[in-house]
Amino acid sequence: MPYTLITGASMGIGETFALEFARRGHNLVLVARSEEKMQLLASELRAKHGTDVRVFRADLNDADAPSRIFIYCRDQRLDIDLLVNCAGLSRAGEFRQLPPDKLDEIMTVNMMAAARLCRLFLPAMILARSGGIINVASLGGLQGVPGLALYSATKSFLITLSEALHIEAGKSRVKVLAVCPGFIDTGFLDRTGHDASGIRLPIYGADKVVQAAIRGFENKRIRVFPTLLDAVLSFSQRFASRKFAVRLSGYFAGIIRA
Ligand SMILES: NC(=O)c1ccc[n+]([C@@H]2O[C@H](COP(=O)([O-])OP(=O)(O)OC[C@H]3O[C@@H](n4cnc5c(N)ncnc54)[C@H](OP(=O)(O)O)[C@@H]3O)[C@@H](O)[C@H]2O)c1
Repeated sequence: MPYTLITGASMGIGETFALEFARRGHNLVLVARSEEKMQLLASELRAKHGTDVRVFRADLNDADAPSRIFIYCRDQRLDIDLLVNCAGLSRAGEFRQLPPDKLDEIMTVNMMAAARLCRLFLPAMILARSGGIINVASLGGLQGVPGLALYSATKSFLITLSEALHIEAGKSRVKVLAVCPGFIDTGFLDRTGHDASGIRLPIYGADKVVQAAIRGFENKRIRVFPTLLDAVLSFSQRFASRKFAVRLSGYFAGIIRA
């Protein structure tokens, strides 16, 4: 039976993906560190939708976590036909003040773990000529964002990785999508130390991201911008100088004077 594996499923956008995919009848593997939260969510989804929901606690900051997840799925004979790389973190502020351990953690979770999971799960999808990957990137990945320098760089990585995989895997009918949300109301901003009152863009609900991602995935899109404003901002970059686009993204984020 096919399963959808969601990282970052304990809260926020990942939890919203879990709720929506369970509603659509998918069996799930939930991955994050907060085991209790995921067990509660799993019980709720099993009771409400009758789907099989597994919980696998993993700290994606550990380099071997992706292979442990893969081995668990293989040993349990869980056929992962949809991988949602949603786990991510950030830290607001100037790059020069970023604590070194945060620097490593942001790169490991946002880039390395996502890339490793793609590498581990993609071959079986290609062999089966079905399934795919949704990578949760960010509007911030379209250019450097002053005040979120490393975070925006990790999301650029995820966008370009997804774009190349979209073409490579597309030859075998496997879909790969990067979803690029703007600011979303999940508690993520608080956790990153980003004062939301400084943000000069609307903040949307997680459901907008999930619905747009699923629609985009079904329509074999390469990138998806969840709101019209996200799409307009992305398109308008074509007419702006690079320096202006970067300054503007810093202005919208409202963390430091750009
Ligand atoms: N919120 C926004 O404004 C926004 C905008 C654009 C893109 N995004 C992206 O959307 C994704 C989800 O964000 P969100 O808003 O839902 O954030 P969130 O509410 O903070 O959720 C982040 C998720 O990532 C998991 N995670 C973080 N570090 C982890 C680690 N070391 N190991 C395993 N799991 C880890 C967390 O689970 P545990 O803490 O339980 O491990 C949690 O489930 C992220 O990739 C983020 O970059 C968010």
